[in-house]
Amino acid sequence: MQEQRVLGQSGIKVSPVGLGCMGFSHAYGAPTEKGQAIRMIRKAFDMGYTFFDTAECYTGINPDGSISYNEELVGEALKPVRDQVVIATKMGITFTPDGAVLDSSPEKIRTSVESSLKRLGTDYIDLYYQHRIDPKVEPEVVAETMGQLIKEGKIRAWGISETGEEYLRRAHAVTPVAAIQNRYSMLAREYEPLFPVLEELNIALVAFSPMGNGFLTGAYKATDTFVGGVDYRSHMPQYTPEGFAAAEKLMDLLADLGREKNASSGQLSLAWMLCKKPWIIPIPGSRKEARILENLNSQHVILTPEEINRIDSLLDTLKMPVYGQRG
Ligand SMILES: NC(=O)c1ccc[n+]([C@@H]2O[C@H](COP(=O)([O-])OP(=O)(O)OC[C@H]3O[C@@H](n4cnc5c(N)ncnc54)[C@H](OP(=O)(O)O)[C@@H]3O)[C@@H](O)[C@H]2O)c1
Repeated sequence: MQEQRVLGQSGIKVSPVGLGCMGFSHAYGAPTEKGQAIRMIRKAFDMGYTFFDTAECYTGINPDGSISYNEELVGEALKPVRDQVVIATKMGITFTPDGAVLDSSPEKIRTSVESSLKRLGTDYIDLYYQHRIDPKVEPEVVAETMGQLIKEGKIRAWGISETGEEYLRRAHAVTPVAAIQNRYSMLAREYEPLFPVLEELNIALVAFSPMGNGFLTGAYKATDTFVGGVDYRSHMPQYTPEGFAAAEKLMDLLADLGREKNASSGQLSLAWMLCKKPWIIPIPGSRKEARILENLNSQHVILTPEEINRIDSLLDTLKMPVYGQRG
């Protein structure tokens, strides 16, 4: 049986690599056809994934004008194996024509959890995240509401996405946080100073966009173009000619190491964080079967502390414009 990782004090066990399901509906071009998306998510379970990430705001417009609700795809795909998987979803962001609206009021948390349960077709959510901090609501209020949902059995554990230390400590003091979900990859290391806090409080880091939105796989070229509006890569700085130029040395190192380890660059980008800390769980997203398997198999690529340091030292010297970019 493959190694499992633990979501902090909740004790919930997950595969070391989770599947980010966002791309089936949102942010990477037109949504995947429903049947195909469901097949891919089921195949991921068959391969060994037991941790699946979605959110209430992951939606997209299908070619026939209907809405693709990512939670519905995930829920339907995993229904037959519901008790063997860990489903994480998120609340707190609504996209409107005027931009993203943040709302983490207790009322909104309650209406959102009911809607997510319905779309997922389940009577409990394993891990429920506050997707973004709402400056109008104190962390204690959010934590209190999440604690009530745990008591009521609607969620098993809770987490926060894109949090810093102060907010996390205040929230955790009210209802222990199982995991945070922050952006973390070789291109985005701004949360590394938070690592001692996560260790101290026994909180897992679920790393989103762990391959720098696919960039670190080396599968893309400076001449590639992405459809504006529906494919967020069209405005991501790493996909500009300057971004490719800045990352050249890193991509060369990954290719060299890859030859030594018989691993792809994408696998190395995941192995780098898997080998760094036993409580980091990357959730790469892909809509393609071979890549979903390739990403899961990064758990078998072992990097020594010296090799990790070598990569980090290089990252420290590269002044990459992609650092801290937002997807
Ligand atoms: N909490 C938040 O605010 C937040 C924000 C962003 C994302 N997320 C979560 O994190 C998950 C992952 O993040 P992400 O999708 O933004 O970034 P990512 O996992 O770093 O990269 C995904 C991109 O890489 C490509 N890709 C994946 N595996 C590949 C491989 N082996 N070789 C070549 N290309 C590959 C995918 O394309 P194909 O699909 O064509 O393979 C996709 O375009 C999301 O699905 C979502 O669940 C959370």
